[in-house]
Amino acid sequence: MNQVKIAGRNVFPIGLGTWNMGDKADKFEQEAEAIRAGLDHGVQVIDTAEMYGDGNAERLVAHAIQPYNREELFLISKVLPSNASKKQLPVSLENSLKRLKTDYLDLYLLHWKGNIPMEETIEALEKGKSQGKIKSWGVSNVDVDDLGKIMKIPDGINCAANQVRYNLGDRGIEFDLVPMMNKREMPLIAYAPVARGDSLGTNLTKQKALKEIAEKHHSNCFQILLAWCIRNGQTIAIPQSSNTAHVIDNVKAAEIQLTQQDLKQLNSIYPKPGRKQPLALW
Ligand SMILES: NC(=O)c1ccc[n+]([C@@H]2O[C@H](COP(=O)([O-])OP(=O)(O)OC[C@H]3O[C@@H](n4cnc5c(N)ncnc54)[C@H](OP(=O)(O)O)[C@@H]3O)[C@@H](O)[C@H]2O)c1
Repeated sequence: MNQVKIAGRNVFPIGLGTWNMGDKADKFEQEAEAIRAGLDHGVQVIDTAEMYGDGNAERLVAHAIQPYNREELFLISKVLPSNASKKQLPVSLENSLKRLKTDYLDLYLLHWKGNIPMEETIEALEKGKSQGKIKSWGVSNVDVDDLGKIMKIPDGINCAANQVRYNLGDRGIEFDLVPMMNKREMPLIAYAPVARGDSLGTNLTKQKALKEIAEKHHSNCFQILLAWCIRNGQTIAIPQSSNTAHVIDNVKAAEIQLTQQDLKQLNSIYPKPGRKQPLALW
C-alpha cells in the first residue's frame, strides 16, 4: 500500500468525502458511524467544505472525529470563491474551525477559482498559516494555465495540493495537469473517484472488464476503481459513502495491487487522453 506525501505528511491513500452528508437528522448517527468505520480501518484524510449542507458536513465530521486523536487525522476544508477575500476568508476559516471543533485545518482549499484576485486569496491563506489556523493550503478545480499562474505569485509555490475530479472514466487531466503536478511533487486529491456511484453516476461499475478484474482480485468494482485511482502513489482518493460496509470495502481497496495486465486491459477500454481536455467538473 502506497502512502501519499501531502504537506509534509505521509497519509493513507484513501480518504473520506462528505458531500451531501450531515443534512438529515435521522441519518446523522449512521453517517458518523460510517466515518468512524473508515478511521478505524486506517483512514486519515477527511474532506469537507463550508459549502456542503451550509456547514452541516463539517458539523457531522466534528461529531464523528470526537473520540479520535486529532493529530493523526488530516482534515481538509474549503472556502467558497466568493469568500476568498482578505476580509472574508478569515471569517470563513474561523467558522469552519468552530463547526469542526478544531484549532486548525491540515489543508484549506480554494473550492474553485472565482473573481477575487488569487494574489489576495494567497495572502489571506498565508496569514491563516502564520496564525497556526491552517497547516497548509491548496486549490481545487484548477487546470494547468491557472496553476502555472499561481506558481508565479509570491508564496504561490506553497500550494500543497489540487483537488480535481478523477476516475477511470474521467482521465483528461493525465494529459497535462497530472504531469505538471508530478513534476512539482504536488499530490492530486481525486474527487468522484468512483464516478459518483451507481445511483448518481456513470455506471462504470457495470463494465464487464472491470467485473472480471474485480473477480480476479476477490474484490468488487468500486474497489478496483479506487485501486486504479491511487496506483501511482501521488493520489489520494476521497470516495464518499454513508454506508459503513461500503466505507470498509473502499478502505480495503488500498491493499489491491493491479497488475500491468489489469492496467492494459483497463487502458484499452478507457484510454489515456491523447490531447488536451477541459477539466471534468462535479
Ligand atoms: N472539490 C470539489 O469541487 C468537489 C466536487 C465533488 C466532490 N468533492 C469531494 O469528493 C468526494 C467524493 O466525490 P462524490 O461524492 O461526488 O462522488 P464519489 O465518491 O465518486 O461517489 C459517491 C457515491 O458512490 C457511492 N459509493 C461509494 N462507495 C461505494 C461502494 N463501495 N459501493 C457502492 N456504492 C458506493 C455512494 O453511495 P453510498 O453512500 O450508498 O455508499 C455515493 O452515492 C465528495 O464527497 C466531496 O468530499 C469535491
